[in-house]
Amino acid sequence: MTDRLLIVDFGSQVTQLIARRVREAGVYCEIHPFQSVDPARLKEFAPRGIILSGGPASVTEGAAPAAHPAIFTAGVPVLGICYGEQTMAQQLGGTVESGHHREFGRAEVEVKASSALFDGVWAPGDRKQVWMSHGDRVTKLPAGFEVIAASPNAPFAAIADEKRRYYGLQFHPEVMHTPDGAKLLRNFALGIVGARGDWTMAAFRERALADIRRQVGRGKVICGLSGGVDSSVVAVLLHEAIGDQLQCVFVDHGLLRKDEAEQVVRLFRDHYNIPLIHADASEQFLKALAGVTDPEQKRKTIGALFIDVFDAEAKKIGGAEFLAQGTLYPDVIESVSFTGGPSVTIKSHHNVGGLPARMKMKLVEPLRELFKDEVRALGRELGLPPDLVNRHPFPGPGLAIRIPGDITREKLDLLREVDAVYLDEIRKSGLYDEIWQAFAVLLPVRTVGVMGDGRTYDQACALRAVTSTDGMTADYFPFDHAFLGRVANRIINEVRGINRVTYDITSKPPGTIEWE
Ligand code: XMP
Repeated sequence: MTDRLLIVDFGSQVTQLIARRVREAGVYCEIHPFQSVDPARLKEFAPRGIILSGGPASVTEGAAPAAHPAIFTAGVPVLGICYGEQTMAQQLGGTVESGHHREFGRAEVEVKASSALFDGVWAPGDRKQVWMSHGDRVTKLPAGFEVIAASPNAPFAAIADEKRRYYGLQFHPEVMHTPDGAKLLRNFALGIVGARGDWTMAAFRERALADIRRQVGRGKVICGLSGGVDSSVVAVLLHEAIGDQLQCVFVDHGLLRKDEAEQVVRLFRDHYNIPLIHADASEQFLKALAGVTDPEQKRKTIGALFIDVFDAEAKKIGGAEFLAQGTLYPDVIESVSFTGGPSVTIKSHHNVGGLPARMKMKLVEPLRELFKDEVRALGRELGLPPDLVNRHPFPGPGLAIRIPGDITREKLDLLREVDAVYLDEIRKSGLYDEIWQAFAVLLPVRTVGVMGDGRTYDQACALRAVTSTDGMTADYFPFDHAFLGRVANRIINEVRGINRVTYDITSKPPGTIEWE
């Protein structure tokens, strides 16, 4: 079995980043809420090392969350980060006090002693930048610990008990603002824990293939294909595992970008030879959407019809026991709930949300353990084309939520043209991979313009491009003016029906990425 690390979550906003850094070191790890980590979980998961995350609580308050004592008798290395350091220090006999100074942001630590945690990265006397975010701090160390780095506001910024292999960091090594943080986590996972670092996508692929074959046997599997990265990777992986026991269904709601439906069919049916049903339901969707203007109503209408069409196609195929889905790890991480709010906001708008319950099929979810970056890496490992692997996220309701007001075929066609010119320019400028999402919005506004000697009275559009790491927050992309001018010029000249182009400079929050 692959060596595993357990991350005990105390509700920090950045716990997922710890997991990503550890996995980047080639070590498999999972995040479990602190309440769920008891002797039974420890025995079952059999971690080779444990990381205690940060969190919003204060150990100086009465009902503060604690790490199960079994964590400290498991005989494996433990790394406490921020709140994790504080609870570890307190639980092992040290003292934590409410900070006289709240410290938030960049800070400098001075390395006080050499440590296995700093091996090859930091040496005594070094001054290094870290990211602090805490109100409390450790003021007395538990027996066996020594200070290995300090800052003016956090005299115990890093502590270690090298004998028991317990380490504590007041700062956050998992965030980018601690430039050496990833290396420290790597030292913990590989050097201190001694994990093998053999969690690679090539190894994952082999294991996933075996798992799929074991689960499915000779059964038939249906997979919904959307043209996005996740479902594409699921389809290709399953096809490699079980060949033509897989049947893909592509519900074409007619709300995709220009030429996208044809590309999906060409790639999967013609290139990969995957059995694929192209259910062209665009007429049905247009009919159902006629007169619907409220964004949530659009989503509901599309979601419900999507399930109907998919279900009908599945019935036609008949005899399928399994449904394959591209569920990812962030969708299945249990969240810590003691603060009222979840540590990870889970997107409520899944493309095929209601399918499993309605279809009463067993689920095959081979990507359940993976983060999005890992799915992309797996896609590359499987040989999927780079432009598909690196494709921007695209919402399930498609262009319907990029046309404020009611949806008609004419509007969809117009938007597809605008969008195609915009993306073409982005690709030509080499900016595609720097952007999280870029798209055009068709505005329900007509404006006056001049073209040649004539007056025009046509529609306006908005262009949107954002950078983001997870879609939860986003900044507008700072195109230069020459680029924006060129795109606007091309759109107005090439797309009949559009005579004004605007660029959306709203960040999220307060805006959202999509307009609806
Ligand atoms: P917002 O607009 O909420 O979008 O800032 C965040 C991310 O979610 C995508 N999105 C959706 N995806 N169904 C989806 O599958 C939806 O109804 C939906 N609404 C927004 C959006 O494209 C962005 O990536």
